[in-house]
Amino acid sequence: MVTLRFRALRVDDLDAALAIRLRSFGPLDAAGEDRWRRTTAELLEQGRLHGVEDDGTLVAAGKARGFEQWWTGRRVPMAGMAGITVAPQARGRGVGSLLMRGLADLSRDRGEPVSALYPASIPVYRHLGWELAGAQRRVSLEADALRVLGGSTVVREAHADDARAIVDLYADGMKRARHRGPRHLPAAEWSELLADPQTYVFVADDGVVVYRWAGQDLEVVLLWAETLETTRSLWSVVGSGSSVAKRVHAFLAPDDPVHWLLPLEAERQERRYSWMLRVLDVEAALVARGYQPETSATVTFAVVDAERAENAGPWTLTVTGGEGAVVRADADPSGLPTLTARGLAALYAGSPPAALRRAGLLLGGGAGDDAVLELLFAGASPAYLLDYF
Ligand SMILES: CC(C)(COP(=O)(O)OP(=O)(O)OC[C@H]1O[C@@H](n2cnc3c(N)ncnc32)[C@H](O)[C@@H]1OP(=O)(O)O)[C@@H](O)C(=O)NCCC(=O)NCCS
Repeated sequence: MVTLRFRALRVDDLDAALAIRLRSFGPLDAAGEDRWRRTTAELLEQGRLHGVEDDGTLVAAGKARGFEQWWTGRRVPMAGMAGITVAPQARGRGVGSLLMRGLADLSRDRGEPVSALYPASIPVYRHLGWELAGAQRRVSLEADALRVLGGSTVVREAHADDARAIVDLYADGMKRARHRGPRHLPAAEWSELLADPQTYVFVADDGVVVYRWAGQDLEVVLLWAETLETTRSLWSVVGSGSSVAKRVHAFLAPDDPVHWLLPLEAERQERRYSWMLRVLDVEAALVARGYQPETSATVTFAVVDAERAENAGPWTLTVTGGEGAVVRADADPSGLPTLTARGLAALYAGSPPAALRRAGLLLGGGAGDDAVLELLFAGASPAYLLDYF
């Protein structure tokens, strides 16, 4: 008899959840375990930690974190699935899928229309409608080349009172740049960064850089600058450490301007972690995101979603002035361009319709439909995230 049950975790589940975590991702040192207990307890309090029990014994645990993601100038609530772990003896029996379905349902009900995750294994999540959407890129640069970038903008070290202003500065930047994917960092997260003695935050009137040591090297967590002068100035501050740190590793957008400023671009090293996206609520996800304000268009398409019946069927999306309106369409789905759940996720993140067709994620319809879908969704540069969760 199957006795699997998805449920919220309680404080007295934490030891069992940690045991599953250790068997899934490897050992933690004392500081790591401390951190795990702290963040896990916080998520438990927020009702964002769930698990699966088998006949009363906890056999899986996972988090659905409450984030917001920038999608073309607007913030979309996003459930960040993390720490998805199944006890070794319980794997391969659908426990992980049950956990993910439960987390997806809760997230949708909470008003989080999209979900993102970094997969350790792609098939588990593909089965459930997540698809590769973007990447976190960590690029290694020569510190000396950054040091001599110059720049005349006045830069000062940030303090606790700057959190609010930095939130606004980065949000303004994301609105203007219309980037897709990066997380919105709320004031509480900036306050934590500003309070951490091992994280250095420097600001200018129109820019901010966050960096720290990574062994003998430096690591830039985020650098945002509105102007060339400030871009140069903030990178120079980091590069000024070049007598000790030979390399600077940086989490960057694919079109970060530093790529056009450095002489050693060809020699840079890069590490990529791909992340996946799932549209949990078609209507809310398409309405919440932004679109290029210069584009006005209407498209009717169908969605096939075996996991989420409420997403399936024909929809009409009308975009005007950067905003989308969505209604259920009264159309025969057989003649419409038809997206699988995975195709919809990839399209949402900006993948070109023609590529989705070649991958079997977009079917039916015609070239005219593809042109409109491309106009509405495909963007100048790929979706990205700066941080890992
Ligand atoms: C990955 C993990 C969560 C999957 O849990 P699970 O209970 O075994 O998954 P399910 O039984 O629900 O499997 C769902 C599907 O994914 C497939 N799958 C599961 N684990 C897989 C793996 N490691 N590689 C490839 N496919 C896998 C299954 O075959 C199944 O497909 P099927 O329905 O076609 O047979 C579990 O193996 C685990 O905890 N691994 C160690 C930690 C980890 O990697 N976590 C994921 C972090 S993102």
